[in-house]
Order: sequence, then C-alpha cells, then structure tokens
Amino acid sequence: MTTALITGGTSGIGRATAHLFSRRGATVIVTGRDETRGQAVAAETGGRFIQADLAVPEDVRRLAAEAGEVDVLVNNAGYWELGPTADTTEAGFEAMNAVNVRAPFFLTAALAPPMAARGHGAIVNVSTMVAARGAAGMAAYGASKAALEALTRSWAAEFGPAGVRVNAVALGPSRTEVTQSMGDLLDTLAAASPLGRANEPDEVAQVIAYLAGEDARPITGAVLAVDAGRVATL
Ligand SMILES: NC(=O)c1ccc[n+]([C@@H]2O[C@H](COP(=O)([O-])OP(=O)(O)OC[C@H]3O[C@@H](n4cnc5c(N)ncnc54)[C@H](OP(=O)(O)O)[C@@H]3O)[C@@H](O)[C@H]2O)c1
Repeated sequence: MTTALITGGTSGIGRATAHLFSRRGATVIVTGRDETRGQAVAAETGGRFIQADLAVPEDVRRLAAEAGEVDVLVNNAGYWELGPTADTTEAGFEAMNAVNVRAPFFLTAALAPPMAARGHGAIVNVSTMVAARGAAGMAAYGASKAALEALTRSWAAEFGPAGVRVNAVALGPSRTEVTQSMGDLLDTLAAASPLGRANEPDEVAQVIAYLAGEDARPITGAVLAVDAGRVATL
C-alpha cells in the first residue's frame, strides 16, 4: 500500500490531496502547525497527523523521522508575504525561504534516499505561476518557488536513475482558505487566463495524484502548469 506524506495537509490544496489519496487507498500522513485542523483531516482520511512548523529545522528533522518510510512526498506547504520589495523585511524573506525552499530540501534529503534504496517513489512540489512570470509585489515569493522548481529538476537528475520521480505543479489562482480573503480579486486574476477560471482544490489534487502515480511513469523533472493556460499565452 502507498504511504503519502503531504505537507500543508491541514488546509486547501494539501487537505484536498490528502482526501484524494485516501479515497484511492493510500495511507496518508498530513503535517502542518494547526493541531485541530490536522487531527480533523487525519480522522477524515483514516490517516495520521504530525504537527510540525516547517520554518523550524528541528521540526523538519523530527517530521522526517516520525513519518518513516514514505512512497510519495508532496511538498505542498507554502508561505507568502506579498508587497513591494522595499517593504519586504529580512524576517519575511527568510520565512518564505524557510518554508518554501529549506523545508522541502531537507525533507527530500531525508526521505528520497530511502525511496531510492527501495527503487521507487515520487515527489511532487507545489509551485506557482509567479515562479515563471514577474508579478509586482511577489518578488520574494516568486523567487522562493523558482528555487523549488530548480530543485525539482536537480532531484529528477539525482534520484531518477534509482527510480524516484520528481515533478512540480505551477498553480494559477486557486480557490482555497488563503485566497478566500482576496474576494473578487481571485476571479479577476483568473479571468485573465484563456479558460477564465480559478482552480478548485480537488482539481489540483487530481493533477498531483496523477504525477505521483504510475500513469505518469515516463515523467520526471517536469513543471506542469495548472493555471488555465495563463503562462502559456499573451
Ligand atoms: N491558492 C492559490 O491561489 C495558490 C496559487 C499558487 C500556488 N499556491 C501554492 O499552493 C500551496 C498550498 O496553498 P493553499 O492555497 O492550499 O494555502 P492554504 O490553504 O493557506 O494552506 C497552506 C498550508 O501550508 C501550511 N503551512 C504554512 N506555513 C507552514 C509552516 N511554517 N509550517 C508548517 N506548515 C505550514 C499550512 O498549515 P498550518 O496552517 O496548519 O500550519 C496549510 O496547511 C502553497 O505552496 C502555495 O504557495 C497556491
């Protein structure tokens, strides 16, 4: 049976991904800071919740140790502080890089080698269209996710020969808890794409599950745009 560790599984896209993996028979481990939401998702999916703050290196090490052997790692947790470059604090910059780059790096460092030793495994990293296209107010966030996309390609090269695939999804506007507060702005942003729509969390989960699953066995090192065609077009 497949065991999947999903970071940021307490909310939004991560929670939808946990539910989908569970419906498909996987053993699910979710992680996040929020004990109440995490325990709820664990109960709903018949899985396990491990509380961890991914901005804290010790928590990342403990999470990897407590998760044990996993077949699928979804590096979904993300953190962003948006605003002009001149207003970005060093603490905010570091927090984005801690959660969006350092935590996936060291989780993968701990969990991919055992996958490689077993000869199979899949990692899916959750990025944003802002990694590939400039957006005012999103410089530090976009740069952190661009680093995650670079890691995706390097890990594909490093772990592919041992049978471990590593891919990413680059999301357009998606309707989750964090974007609820944006109100109409989410739909305005989504309207700029050819399909003119925002992603629903379950739709993103389906793509993540595809990349993690056997149907995607020829695919590694890919960054798949899940953005209603936004970055592919003028
Ligand atoms: N929604 C969008 O429009 C959109 C667009 C492009 C990319 N994305 C990416 O999609 C991913 C999921 O976002 P979402 O929209 O589903 O957001 P969300 O509903 O706010 O979920 C974010 C998740 O990340 C976890 N997280 C954040 N900081 C953490 C930390 N320090 N330690 C541990 N967990 C932490 C949160 O868990 P706790 O609260 O329990 O700590 C939560 O489960 C992110 O990587 C985001 O960058 C989203």
